[in-house]
Amino acid sequence: MFKTAPLSARILADMDTTTTSAASAPRRISALPGPRGLPFLGNTLQLRPSKVHADVEAMARRYGPLFQMRIGRQQVLVVADAALVGAILRERPDGFRRPDVTARVSDELGGERGVFLAEGAVWRKQRKMVMQAFAPHAIKAYFPLLARVGARLQQRWAQAARDGRPIALNADLKRYTVDVIAGLAFGEEVNTIENGDDVVQRQLELIMEGTARRSLMPVPYWRYVKLPYDRRLEAAVRATRAATNGFIAKARQRMQDDPSRASHPHNMLEAMLAAADQEGSGIDQGAVIGNVSTMLLAGEDTTSSALSWLIWLLARHPAALQRAQEEVRGVAPDPSAFTIEQMDRLEFVDACAHEAMRLKPPAPFLPLQANHDCVVGDVRVPKDCVLWCVLRHDSVSEAKVHNAAAFDPQRWLDGGNVRQLAMPFGSGPRLCPGRYLSLLEIKVAMACLLGAFDIVSVDGDSGEYHGFVMQSGALTMRLLPRAG
Ligand code: HEM
Repeated sequence: MFKTAPLSARILADMDTTTTSAASAPRRISALPGPRGLPFLGNTLQLRPSKVHADVEAMARRYGPLFQMRIGRQQVLVVADAALVGAILRERPDGFRRPDVTARVSDELGGERGVFLAEGAVWRKQRKMVMQAFAPHAIKAYFPLLARVGARLQQRWAQAARDGRPIALNADLKRYTVDVIAGLAFGEEVNTIENGDDVVQRQLELIMEGTARRSLMPVPYWRYVKLPYDRRLEAAVRATRAATNGFIAKARQRMQDDPSRASHPHNMLEAMLAAADQEGSGIDQGAVIGNVSTMLLAGEDTTSSALSWLIWLLARHPAALQRAQEEVRGVAPDPSAFTIEQMDRLEFVDACAHEAMRLKPPAPFLPLQANHDCVVGDVRVPKDCVLWCVLRHDSVSEAKVHNAAAFDPQRWLDGGNVRQLAMPFGSGPRLCPGRYLSLLEIKVAMACLLGAFDIVSVDGDSGEYHGFVMQSGALTMRLLPRAG
């Protein structure tokens, strides 16, 4: 069994080898342990696309928190130690970037780079614009739409409960997050919950899955031959882009008709257009398009996956479920009267959401690339080396977290080290800007569920599958209208 030297969270951004003593000379990546690979393919065949997160986590348990693998010919340093991962994430955008391949795949698909893919000075400008769309007063303005969509979800489930019908949990939660995000991002109520029209949702899913899939392909075959899948993917990108252009034109018109919207935007698009129009913003129309699409892509599956896992876990933990139900029924029983302040008071539900994301993080890993030669822990990392940061390792390790395998929301209320070990929203300057909004969305959905129903069962395929995010297979929920 491999043993690591004690790890320090030491990252020397510009490595100065002249001052490195022989005793503490960093190791080369090639000296690290790791799974044996094949010529040209490296370890690609050991990484099943839909189980890639679990395959790398299993390797980390076997080879330790710093090991090497190869994806095709690309050497990859895998980092699973939470302190080191946190230190790497803090060194952005200067020290590390998102891997070039992700931006290349997106560019090739004709996407505009939003804040998720932007780097350096461009990222700084975009991040500033995006953060204005997530400012507390902006979220407050969006809240009524969130509560309305929650109430629609509750009505849909009430009908299913009355009819004694099972609920397709993941599909309904995706409708909920699409309706919320499309409403917030574009100011359009697409209402897939009531209309059952899931075109937007299917297109987004295809784009997310296709981008992730192409990023992991050792050979870009689509440049030479387009399979039906590639044609569908490219058509989905074109359709989303055309829809986004239409939404931007409408938003510009609304802002022209009512100039007060610049200081009091009604949705993210208006907030971003207002920020882009500020003098010296350095933001053009392409960046606005890129960021509206980014919000849709980053905000849909992540939140719906977190919600599905949370509901699945609560259905298996009756004591936690009962406590969450009591909290909701005491604090926020009626969706038509929901307020942000009520949601902020749902502390136990919030702890349940964090605990669910510790065990089932929607984003269980983050790939990055080094901008300079540097040292990570005690390993020499050359410029452009790809790093695979594993986010679920220490956070579920018995050595670091008491009773790590248990679903125990109370640990989040007690404090302790869990907040440093679990990073479901990433960390550092690129921490997820949608963090507060998604937790608000989760609490609204949970209040709609727990306030009005008793959960009879949540069954189905609880395997973990990685597409764009890590989600369960199809789950089915049965509800009874709340007694009394
Ligand atoms: C449970 C829900 C969510 C989870 C688990 C999640 C997770 C993450 C993670 C892990 C990152 C990478 C952070 C890093 O590199 O350090 C990220 C980035 C990002 N997320 Fe989220 N996210 C969620 C919801 C949302 C929502 C609702 C939105 C927007 C509506 C959003 C927008 C973004 C954006 C724009 C970035 C890129 C930030 C940057 O690179 O500066 N996310 N998210």
